[in-house]
Amino acid sequence: MGSVDSQSRVLSGMRPTGKLHLGHYHGVLKNWVKLQHEYECFFFVADWHALTTNYDDPYGIEQSTWDMVIDWLAAGVNPGSATLFIQSRVPEHAELHLLLSMITPLGWLERVPTYKDQQEKLKEKDLATYGFLGYPLLQSADILVYRAGHVPVGADQVSHIEMTREVARRFNHIYGKEAGFEENAIAAIKKMGKKAGKLYESLRKRYLEQGDTEALETARALLRDQQNISLGDRERLFGYLEGGGKVILPEPQPLLTPESKMPGLDGQKMSKSYHNTIGLREDPDTVSQKIRTMQTDPQRVRRSDPGDPAKCPVWQLHEVYSDDSTKDWVQTGCRSAGIGCIECKKPVADAVIEEQRPIRDRALRYEDDPGLVRSIIAEGSDKARDAAKSTLDEVRSAMGLSYE
Ligand code: TRP
Ligand code: SF4
Repeated sequence: MGSVDSQSRVLSGMRPTGKLHLGHYHGVLKNWVKLQHEYECFFFVADWHALTTNYDDPYGIEQSTWDMVIDWLAAGVNPGSATLFIQSRVPEHAELHLLLSMITPLGWLERVPTYKDQQEKLKEKDLATYGFLGYPLLQSADILVYRAGHVPVGADQVSHIEMTREVARRFNHIYGKEAGFEENAIAAIKKMGKKAGKLYESLRKRYLEQGDTEALETARALLRDQQNISLGDRERLFGYLEGGGKVILPEPQPLLTPESKMPGLDGQKMSKSYHNTIGLREDPDTVSQKIRTMQTDPQRVRRSDPGDPAKCPVWQLHEVYSDDSTKDWVQTGCRSAGIGCIECKKPVADAVIEEQRPIRDRALRYEDDPGLVRSIIAEGSDKARDAAKSTLDEVRSAMGLSYE
């Protein structure tokens, strides 16, 4: 599989941070569950990425990985639809990272905004390491090794995808040349048959001469549909479309993850570092208790004081979980002191617990059977490895390292 299917391939990774919370669910996980039905998805645990910042104490990574994978499964990520694996189980990521490191200018890595930001943020750690500087390139390798077309990420990661595109372009520019490229491309067009060949040529012309990107997209779709040309020829023709050489590593696009609207218990964004989370599979009693003890409008001291939902984090949860009539009930009851805060919190707690019910249920069989989780990951890692190997074969050959 080459650039052929790359447009329909999605890859994303998560650092193993341990048990996930409802913020992850409303942001990343629900998105993954949706994407798994629309694309060929690869989702992985970025355990080597965790090492770039936690090299001094890596012993929690393993447990965090299993906890996180159970959360994925509990949220509805389906190993029958998506390939789930652990980065370090696919050593091809490391090989591609090394090969790409040869052509990546230091300046590109130093200029990635997260490099300085993270060093500032994690001041207590010594991040003046080779591994930490190279981490966006490891991410590039994660993506390019599957020739993924789309990469779901948060806004903070878009610069990494940008760099990945530059690295891919540079790789294709340096190693995508072959003797007689043009002749080979023209021969490949003939193999498409008269009609498709003619169409390809006219679309290519429209793109190269008029910059018509719609023509480019149509031509790509045409190539994807061709049954009777080889993988090599197809890649040649993808490259020839844009006037260049072979496209060995296609440029991925970021697929911006919709921002999670899930507020934390204190009204700030839900985040582990704010200690304001509700765990994805937290037990109902703890959830009730966490919501019962939530801060409310600080001006509402006594039950008889009217309050203002706009100043209350509980209201933000109503915004996520309640229908219009419940929201009206809160607005009116709060402002007139007609309802108490405990009363107001009840429907939210119920809704959260109800939302978690199928998640907790799905988690049970994995919690009870760690072997099942291991085997899902083993199978996913094998599958990922096959895909990664086929890219590496081409990469090695393009770089003159096939030793056949
Ligand atoms: N760097 C990402 C993060 O911190 C995780 C990640 C690693 C990733 N490799 C990736 C995401 C590849 C998307 C694609 O969130
Ligand atoms: Fe907040 Fe509801 Fe209490 Fe008003 S009644 S302060 S919205 S918890």
